[in-house]
Amino acid sequence: MTLRIVVLGSAAGGGFPQWNCRCPVCALAWDRDPRVKPRTQSSIAIETGDDRWTLFNASPDLRSQILATPQIQPRGLRDSPIRSVVLTNGDVDHVDGLITLRERSPLTIYATSEISAIIDANPVYGVLAKDVVARRTVDLGATFQIDDTTIEFFGVPGKVPLYMETESLKIGDVGGDTVGVDVRKGGSRLVYIPGCAVVNDDVRARVEGADALLFDGTVFEDDEMQRAGVGVKTGRRMGHVPLSGAGGSLEEFKGVNVGRKIYIHINNTNPILIEGSPQRQAVEAAGWEVSEDGLEVALSDAAGTRHAHGDRGSTAA
Ligand code: MLT
Ligand code: MN
Ligand code: ZN
Repeated sequence: MTLRIVVLGSAAGGGFPQWNCRCPVCALAWDRDPRVKPRTQSSIAIETGDDRWTLFNASPDLRSQILATPQIQPRGLRDSPIRSVVLTNGDVDHVDGLITLRERSPLTIYATSEISAIIDANPVYGVLAKDVVARRTVDLGATFQIDDTTIEFFGVPGKVPLYMETESLKIGDVGGDTVGVDVRKGGSRLVYIPGCAVVNDDVRARVEGADALLFDGTVFEDDEMQRAGVGVKTGRRMGHVPLSGAGGSLEEFKGVNVGRKIYIHINNTNPILIEGSPQRQAVEAAGWEVSEDGLEVALSDAAGTRHAHGDRGSTAA
């Protein structure tokens, strides 16, 4: 049994390039520089069963992601292979795409009680009629099954979504607001953590031994948004540990034993988006891959990890 993953969207909130931005990295994309590829917002799809796919986060770009990805296109009259959605936080880039899934097809949405409460409190999500779209609230640490796949939410240091921040905001709390997902199928294991404020011992222990890790690649430098003049927040203030520097993910994951380490949820300011840039080279030299939209990862227990790049629609071994 193969655990198949397709990266639907590899960029952070806003996508790459961002609609209103000509920072040095976005400018390359607007100018169609071949060193950068535009990217849609953060989401992956996993084949949890036999031709049944689960979305892990539903981005505002979901419709264009479906158009680009044969694996998740309809098979027949009102018959989509997408049967479930798993949410890792309530950020706009991860929940807005639920609206795209209206039209009365049966679906199940899996989330923690914190994330479910956000959906329930927003009347717009009422378009997902409860008689066809089921909700499953899942506790941290409790495994659940989707088709042939066993899934577990675990808390990672994070925060509430931007639009729910208050004066008493705490960054780095571990709870149900920001979670990672442990995904097991046929002896293979993926860990997916698109947002993480701190790489601590618990995060490292969780990742150890995974066949693949998809991890928060939002910013390379903690203060890169300030330096680019696009905003005042640091990566850490947004709940995203930077790649570089002391405590950065490159350093903190140095010793872990993981088959493939792949950055995802990459912000438009991050120079790893530029092929051949010193930062991209540093990341690759450290054994990391930089995901792009359409990247397929196929993990099978028989032959270890194999993969195919790009090629939407091809079947990776
Ligand atoms: C984040 O990942 O920090 C959020 O997606 C930011 C946002 O909501 O724009
Ligand atoms: Mn985000
Ligand atoms: Zn930009």
